Amino acid sequence: MTKATSAESPDHRFTSRSPRLRRRRWPWLLLLSAGLGVGLWAQVPGGSGAAAPLLEPSDKEKREPDVVFVPTPQPVVEKMLELAEIKPGDIVYDLGCGDGRIVVTAAKKYGVKAYGFDIDPKRVAESLANVKSNKVEHLVTIKQADIFKLDLREATVVTLYLLPELNVRLMPQLEKLKPGSRIVSHDFDMRGAKPVLVHRMKVSSRGATAEDLGYGSDREHTIYKWVVPWERDTAAAANN
Ligand SMILES: C[S@@+](CC[C@H](N)C(=O)[O-])C[C@H]1O[C@@H](n2cnc3c(N)ncnc32)[C@H](O)[C@@H]1O
Repeated sequence: MTKATSAESPDHRFTSRSPRLRRRRWPWLLLLSAGLGVGLWAQVPGGSGAAAPLLEPSDKEKREPDVVFVPTPQPVVEKMLELAEIKPGDIVYDLGCGDGRIVVTAAKKYGVKAYGFDIDPKRVAESLANVKSNKVEHLVTIKQADIFKLDLREATVVTLYLLPELNVRLMPQLEKLKPGSRIVSHDFDMRGAKPVLVHRMKVSSRGATAEDLGYGSDREHTIYKWVVPWERDTAAAANN
């Protein structure tokens, strides 16, 4: 069951600064940043070696990812896109696109153009294979690129599943998005930017596929949404 909570509602006590949320998300933070999720790579179908027709060689980046690949469970992907209120003409960017599930879902469900960027060539190959098998090549572009070197201004919706400090590092780029653009982040906040909405949901393992679960367990997920220009959260920025 899902439950939407707005910044104004009592449930907004579960903000990034809430001890309860911090406690809940630490194991995931540790897994993501320490690379213990490496075993999950094997879960992803396709592997490397898929054709890369959409990759532009000039965009190739050769350095380690800032965070390991952990897929967003499919029900959370769907909710992120729903909360982003995607409409015709929107352009979706997924920064660190992993296996491409977010951009493929955006194209298939909403018929919008979507761009996935990942620094890891294996992820790029998986995304391209995903795009191809879902027949959305006309809508989805996958590029191998370092997200911190991208000009994001063409995007009207940006999706993130990175780490809190990486979200903060992206702020100078995200600030340049057109007014009204939406940013949705799985599990991690963006210190100093007040979300307009914080949504928590549990992905039940009952009857769920491996893709549904992403991480292989039924835990609670949090989705943060901001609309550009976002309201500054000076208290949060000062406390951290
Ligand atoms: C936690 S996964 C999220 C994947 C996908 N967005 C999702 O939600 O299912 C983070 C992804 O970011 C990529 N990544 C990490 N650092 C990056 C960087 N500097 N530039 C581009 N991609 C990066 C990783 O390779 C990984 O695929």
